[in-house]
Amino acid sequence: MNVKQVSTTPFDDQRPGTSGLRKKVRVFRQPHYLENFVQSIFDSLEGFRGRTLVLGGDGRYYNRQAVQTIIRMAAANGFGRLLVGRDGLLSTPATSCVIRKHKAFGGIILSASHNPAGPDGDFGIKYNTGNGGPAPEPLTEAIYRNSLAIERYLSLDSEDIDLGAPGETRLGDTVVEIIDPVADYAELMEQLFDFNRIHALINTGVFHMRFDAMHAVTGPYAVEILENRLGLAPGSVVNAVPREDFGGGHPDPNLVYARELVDCLFGSGAPDFGAASDGDGDRNMILGRRFFVTPSDSLAVLAANAHQVPGYRLGLAGVARSMPTSRAVDRVAETLGIECYETPTGWKFFGNLLDANRITLCGEESFGTGSSHLREKDGLWAVLFWLNLLAVRKESVADIVTGHWRRFGRNYYSRHDYEGVDAAAAGELMEALRKQTGTLAGRRFGDLEVSLADDFAYTDPVDGSVSEHQGIRVLFGDGARIVYRLSGTGTEGATLRVYLERYEPDPGRQQQDTQAALADLIHLADALAGIRERTGRDRPTVIT
Ligand code: G1P
Ligand code: ZN
Repeated sequence: MNVKQVSTTPFDDQRPGTSGLRKKVRVFRQPHYLENFVQSIFDSLEGFRGRTLVLGGDGRYYNRQAVQTIIRMAAANGFGRLLVGRDGLLSTPATSCVIRKHKAFGGIILSASHNPAGPDGDFGIKYNTGNGGPAPEPLTEAIYRNSLAIERYLSLDSEDIDLGAPGETRLGDTVVEIIDPVADYAELMEQLFDFNRIHALINTGVFHMRFDAMHAVTGPYAVEILENRLGLAPGSVVNAVPREDFGGGHPDPNLVYARELVDCLFGSGAPDFGAASDGDGDRNMILGRRFFVTPSDSLAVLAANAHQVPGYRLGLAGVARSMPTSRAVDRVAETLGIECYETPTGWKFFGNLLDANRITLCGEESFGTGSSHLREKDGLWAVLFWLNLLAVRKESVADIVTGHWRRFGRNYYSRHDYEGVDAAAAGELMEALRKQTGTLAGRRFGDLEVSLADDFAYTDPVDGSVSEHQGIRVLFGDGARIVYRLSGTGTEGATLRVYLERYEPDPGRQQQDTQAALADLIHLADALAGIRERTGRDRPTVIT
C-alpha cells in the first residue's frame, strides 16, 4: 500500500493545554488540522516503527472520523499494530490500562473530557506514553514546536476500517486489531477489589446504588462491571448508552452538572450510594444518601482505609495531591507516616512519582482520583474502591466520612469558577495578584493572618524539572487557604478558578454548611483579587 505524503502548512494554535489539545469541533474540522497535530505527535517520537499504538476515544461527535484518519496515518508512519477500541470507544483509564498490559509504545485518546460535545461542542486529542500516562511537558512542547514547522504528513489511500467488528485487518504492513474496550480494564478491577464481597453486599437486597454514566463512555464499562459482574439490578446504571452529543448534557460529575443524580440521592427513597463519571471516564463523584463526598475528602478516606482493600493491603508508598486540592490527605499521610507530595494541577505531574514508586494513591479536587494501577485518574476505580469499603465496613457513606473528620479534622473546601471571562481581564487579575504576593505575608484580614503568599512552582523530585506559575497561593496561619489559577482546559475566553479551604478540628463544629463555613474566605478572595471589579461578575458560574 502506497504511503502518500500530503503537503500542509502550520496552524499556530496547537499547543496542548492541561490535558491535550482541546478545540471546538469546527476548528478540528478545518482541512489538515487534525492531521497536522497527529503528525506532529509522531514526529516528536522515536523508535515506534513496528511497535503498537492504542487508539480510542470517548465516543463524542467526530470521534469515529478522527479514528479512521489516525488509523491511516499511524499505519503510514510505520506502527506495526494498532489496538483500536470497538466502535472507536476507549475510556481514558482503559486506554492507560491497555497500553500497560500490551506493552504498547503509546496511545492516542480522543476526548475533551467533560466538555460538551456535538457539532458545536468541543473535541480533543491527547497522547499517552508507554507508561500509560499523559505525555509529560517536554514532549507536549516538542509536539507544539513540530506543529509550528510542519510541512507534510503521511497517510494512506485506504478504505475505512469496520470499527464494529472485533478482529484483525491488515493495512499495508500494519495490523489493525479491534478490541473489546472493556475486557482488559474489567480484569484489572477484579484483581484490585474484592468482587465477592461487593457482590455479597449488593445481594443482601437492602443495598441500592445508582450510577450515572451521563451518556458518555463509562456506560458499557459500568453495565459490565456493576450490573453483569457485581449483580447490581439492571437499570441501576442510568444514561448508559454513549451518545455523540452526550444527550445534550455536560458530562461533568459534580453537584451542578450531575443534577439528576444529586436530586435522586437527596430525594425521598434515595439509594445508599450514588456515583457518576465524566465524558472520558476518568472523573468520579461519590454520593451517599443525602451526603456529598468532596473529591479531596474522598482521597483522604481512601488513603486512610486502603489497607482494607485487596489491591492495597500492603499499605501505601506515599500519596500526592495537586496543589489546589484540600489538605485533608496530608493529615492522613502524617498519621500513616508516609510522604505526601504537592504537585501542580494536571495528572501528568503524578506520572514520575508513580513510576518511581514514591506514591500509591493520588488525586485532585476536580473529581479525579487514582492510583499506581494506571497512569490516569480513574472514575470507576474510585467507585469500586468505595464499594469495597462499604462492603467491608458495613457503614453508610455519611458515617464513614464524618467518622474520618472526627479523627483527622474536617477541611471545609469549595471551588468557585468564573467561566468565560474576558481573557485579558483574567490575565491582568492574575498579574496583579502575582505582584501582591511579595507584600502579603504577615498581613491580617479580620481573624485571618497571611503566613505565606506565592506563585506556586514545582520541582519534580524524580527528574528535577521545574514548572512555574502554577497558581497563586495565599496561606493563613490556622490552615485556611485561598488559591487562584486560570484553567488550562477551556476553549473560550478564560476560566478563573478560586479554591477555598479552612480546617476545622473541633467535631462540634464540623456540621456547618460549606459555603457558610467559608464565608470569610470567600469575601476576602474577592477583596484581594478584585474579582467583581475586574471580571464584571458578581457571582461564580459554578460552585463545587
Ligand atoms: C481541569 C482540572 C484539573 C484536571 C484537568 C483535566 O484543569 O482543574 O485538575 O487535571 O481539568 O481533567 P483546568 O481547567 O483547571 O486547567
Ligand atoms: Zn475526563
